[in-house]
Amino acid sequence: MRTSRYDVFMYASIMGVPALLVLVVIGLYLGYGYAVSVLAALLVAALVVFSVTGIKEIYVHGSYPGSRKILNVGIDTQSSAQPKARKGEEISIVLDRFNNETSKMDTKTYRFYADRLTTVLGAILDIKAYQDSTVTIRCNCRMGICGSCGVVVNGKPQLACEANLLKAAEGGVVRVSPMLGHPLLRGMVDNFSDFFEKHASVEPFLVRSDHKERESAKQEYAQNSDELERFLPYSYCIMCGLCLDACPVVNSNPNFTGPQALSQVWRYHSDSRDQKGKRRLFDVDTAEGAWGCEFSGSCSKACPKGVDPASAIQLMKSELMKDMFAKE
Ligand code: SF4
Ligand code: FES
Repeated sequence: MRTSRYDVFMYASIMGVPALLVLVVIGLYLGYGYAVSVLAALLVAALVVFSVTGIKEIYVHGSYPGSRKILNVGIDTQSSAQPKARKGEEISIVLDRFNNETSKMDTKTYRFYADRLTTVLGAILDIKAYQDSTVTIRCNCRMGICGSCGVVVNGKPQLACEANLLKAAEGGVVRVSPMLGHPLLRGMVDNFSDFFEKHASVEPFLVRSDHKERESAKQEYAQNSDELERFLPYSYCIMCGLCLDACPVVNSNPNFTGPQALSQVWRYHSDSRDQKGKRRLFDVDTAEGAWGCEFSGSCSKACPKGVDPASAIQLMKSELMKDMFAKE
């Protein structure tokens, strides 16, 4: 039986507390003092919890691996985490990890037992906790919101927390690699500095001509549903970087602004509250901006939020073309 520290406290609350109360009452009934009864009850309750749950260690709630404090030291938790005790379908997980000391990729295969709800991220975190603590992956929300767990699963850029392990498996094997469209930091973690710089370079915020209204706004910026629809789909970007990893142009020319930042140019340009006007488009009217896009469409296919950067870039190009013809 595999247990996490959260399970420990759940079992302790369900079984330990009632047992404790009953034992205190028995101790008092038999005429032992209050202190002796409580101590004896604590001891017996702990033994009940440990023997029924198979728990060998308790981690203090809120502590983290590496700095965790073990209350009951002595017996290895690994014994309760052995794969033979697990249920589910056996999957071989091949992890490609960037070794930042040798600047080479290391590959290692792990055995994992998955049920139908296991995600790739869940499996990797389990491997890190119970098989190999050197596995490195970045994640936060575990629900497709923060955009930090982008990896390549069996050749497809995906959010590890949204990829179902059994569905991703091909012949019982799942290969997980870091995204190669960004520089690598360590393990399966990419360096997003360049990505965020490109995002920041397009001024991804509403620009207003009256700078003072920020301090002395008199009313809200009302919009009707048509105005909202125009930019809403592009505002769902969670900055996961999967579109850049999928983009063949980014992979051959790192100076290309890329689908994420370009989609944000269109997002703010389409917003009726923005007053930067055509200048937004002119800023990316370059060979490495909008015109760098070769319309492979792989960015939109990879996007987990349906942002469709490819369409944003084509709309941008057609707007720039109109302007070009108007000048002639
Ligand atoms: S456009 Fe989609 S794939 Fe690209 S960073 Fe935003 S959410 Fe991720
Ligand atoms: S952990 Fe947040 S998107 Fe995957």
